[in-house]
Amino acid sequence: MRLDKLLAHSGYGTRKEVKSYIRQGLVSVNGNIIKKDDYHVDQHLDKIMIDGEYVNYEEYVYYMLNKPAGYVSATTDNRYPTVVELIDDYYRDDLFPIGRLDIDTEGLLILSNDGKLSHELLSPKKHCPKIYYARVKGIVDENDIELFMKGIQLEDFTCQSSILKIININNGISEVTVEIYEGKFHQIKRMFLSLGKEVLYLKRLQMNNLKLDENLKIGQYRRLTDEELNRLKNQSVIQ
Ligand code: URA
Repeated sequence: MRLDKLLAHSGYGTRKEVKSYIRQGLVSVNGNIIKKDDYHVDQHLDKIMIDGEYVNYEEYVYYMLNKPAGYVSATTDNRYPTVVELIDDYYRDDLFPIGRLDIDTEGLLILSNDGKLSHELLSPKKHCPKIYYARVKGIVDENDIELFMKGIQLEDFTCQSSILKIININNGISEVTVEIYEGKFHQIKRMFLSLGKEVLYLKRLQMNNLKLDENLKIGQYRRLTDEELNRLKNQSVIQ
């Protein structure tokens, strides 16, 4: 990788700015000052320093976002802002959301540049569990719990047995959690609609073994910890 690209991708400035640092002699590779911005480095092996500080180039990055409503789960969109735009401490253009939440859905979304993890979590064969909190118009009852357990039939698809739990019912609105194992378009909303009930609010709480950090306010994000990432990777194959 070019030295100027590596520095820009590591957050040390724009391509123009880091070129200027290189020319000023502020950058060394394995102890030697390098003044050529097109100098090629091995990002895994070379020890790169800028202004006396070691550069830590991370190949893969993993973020947990508490997605707000109004943002699309995509990398580009010509009508709405995207979830990628919310991650403002990332300096490359290879970040994408792992899976999709509807524009009006909030909660846990993982963003990464790791295609392998994305495949592991999203492959239909892996049956990755996802837990949602929902507010539903109408009274959810034991019969609904049983129907979810048996597997809801949508127009084009029969859902796997899923776990519906009632948290509270008040003024004709039911608060529930639902655990599903697929990720079909509008799946939770369609599951309730098939029972004649409308989802008023939806928030993802958990994906596989990763729980939304309750300290993250809507729109906030943080990196996954090593422990979270290891758990997510090691248990991502669920049969
Ligand atoms: N199910 C839905 O209906 N919407 C989502 O965003 C996620 C699951």
